[in-house]
Amino acid sequence: MSDALGSKVIVNGVNPKHIAIIMDGNGRWAQKRMMPRIMGHHAGVKAVRKIVEYCAKEHIEVLSLFAFSSENWRRPKDEVSLLMELFMSTLQSQVDKLDKNNIRLRIIGDKSAFPEKLQDKISAAEAQTANNTGLTLVIAANYGGRWDIAQAVQNIVAGIKTGAIAEQAINEELIDQYLVTADLPEPDLFIRSGGEERVSNFLLWQLAYTEFFFTDVLWPDFDQAMMQRAIDSFKGRQRRFGHTGEQIIDKRML
Ligand code: IPE
Ligand code: IPE
Ligand code: MG
Repeated sequence: MSDALGSKVIVNGVNPKHIAIIMDGNGRWAQKRMMPRIMGHHAGVKAVRKIVEYCAKEHIEVLSLFAFSSENWRRPKDEVSLLMELFMSTLQSQVDKLDKNNIRLRIIGDKSAFPEKLQDKISAAEAQTANNTGLTLVIAANYGGRWDIAQAVQNIVAGIKTGAIAEQAINEELIDQYLVTADLPEPDLFIRSGGEERVSNFLLWQLAYTEFFFTDVLWPDFDQAMMQRAIDSFKGRQRRFGHTGEQIIDKRML
């Protein structure tokens, strides 16, 4: 656990280590142009490439992008299958470039629901980039915050059954270790494009103390300047983690 008065508290003026983004508004972007929704998703991929480039250049440690939620299966079949194809083709076309740029790729979510071919591609891409030391790019695909907590509980219960975990050992840190983000720092900054101001089952547990930034800009129009605005907004905030503002200032002057 991080020390309550440790580095987590005094972050003002500092870049976020971990940025989590709900990339929303692709469909509306396309509809505004009288185009099919999938064209919005294609345009969304272009925006992703620019934001990834930016984060790598700015030495952000982790960028987590919500690409497909566990609830997105409820969409029309055609859109779901086109999204799967886009995910697969993007993975295929981008992995070498990510690797060259020292980016480590991680896919989080319930991958068992994906076609086997896609699961294989995911494992191969993760393995290829596993030892990279630059930006960690986390793609949440068939991810849900509630699913994440449920799979952690299942694994903890399995551990108790085998005796590997003592019941009394269950605390926040232990639960943290069983989430799919166990080895990553908590998100410092959460961004949602597209005008909605909700979490839509993204990283529920992990967002406990994250700073939120919402914009009406639709994801395909989200550019590096907007990213900089979100980061500047983050830098101007005082994170208190339950302390008083005075305690934070006193600590900063030490
Ligand atoms: C986000 O854009 C991308 C995915 C959920 C895959 P949307 O497709 O939700 O776009 P809107 O909200 O309909 O405009
Ligand atoms: C959240 O967007 C999921 C992704 C961006 C992948 P949605 O568009 O699915 O969210 P809701 O349904 O408006 O809450
Ligand atoms: Mg949406």
